[in-house]
Amino acid sequence: MKTALVTGANKGIGYEVARQLTGKGFKVFVGARNRDAGRKAATEIAGKDGKAIFLEIDVANNASVTAAAREFAKAADHLDVLVNNAGIIVDGDNAILEISDELLRKTLETNTLGALRVTHAFAPLLRKSKAPRVINVSSGGGQLTGGADGWSPAYCISKTALNGVTSQLATALPKFAVNSVCPGWVRTDMGGQGAARSVEEGADTIVWLAADAPQKLTGKFLRDRKEIPW
Ligand SMILES: NC(=O)c1ccc[n+]([C@@H]2O[C@H](COP(=O)([O-])OP(=O)(O)OC[C@H]3O[C@@H](n4cnc5c(N)ncnc54)[C@H](OP(=O)(O)O)[C@@H]3O)[C@@H](O)[C@H]2O)c1
Repeated sequence: MKTALVTGANKGIGYEVARQLTGKGFKVFVGARNRDAGRKAATEIAGKDGKAIFLEIDVANNASVTAAAREFAKAADHLDVLVNNAGIIVDGDNAILEISDELLRKTLETNTLGALRVTHAFAPLLRKSKAPRVINVSSGGGQLTGGADGWSPAYCISKTALNGVTSQLATALPKFAVNSVCPGWVRTDMGGQGAARSVEEGADTIVWLAADAPQKLTGKFLRDRKEIPW
């Protein structure tokens, strides 16, 4: 059975990705830092006969990530798909010359280092897959092409750096497919209710990369199943 781990899967885009992958027959590990929220989400996603299992994982915390990899290995002997979805925008992330070191560090800790840390910890399990895939949920806000528009600078910098992580990992792991995705502007707690896209639309390219895209597609930044400039 194919296995997937989605971080930050207790709500928003991560929840929807976990739900769709469960529907496609994956055994899905519903990653969440909050136990109650994670358990509730896993139970809902599993429904009657789907395979969805809660996995406690705070991507900003090394010990939590290491413990999660150990827990995972008790329930499955390999990981086919890792979706690094957990992400934050920190309050006060308003202007590049006004953000504190602390705000930038906190943002990078989750959005950039978090994805690298989880990939590192789960690499031995991913290597046991016939076709390992890592999907980093990035943002058009991290695109350098076209220049910055000034919105949430720490968040955008963290996603630019996450795209750097994607590119580096794709080179370091030639048998893996490692890609960044921009889900578009999506109606979630982060995106707000005025956003243009539903969670189903936001999850589409991520689920496609997880389940259906060619394995040779790697080292790219995608939106709507198509490559976009970094
Ligand atoms: N919504 C958009 O318009 C949009 C656009 C571009 C990119 N994205 C990206 O899409 C991804 C999902 O965003 P979303 O819109 O679904 O946001 P969301 O509804 O706010 O969900 C974010 C998820 O990440 C989790 N998370 C945050 N920090 C974590 C940590 N340290 N460890 C584990 N989980 C953590 C949250 O857990 P808690 O519930 O415990 O806080 C939550 O499950 C993010 O990477 C975001 O940057 C979103």
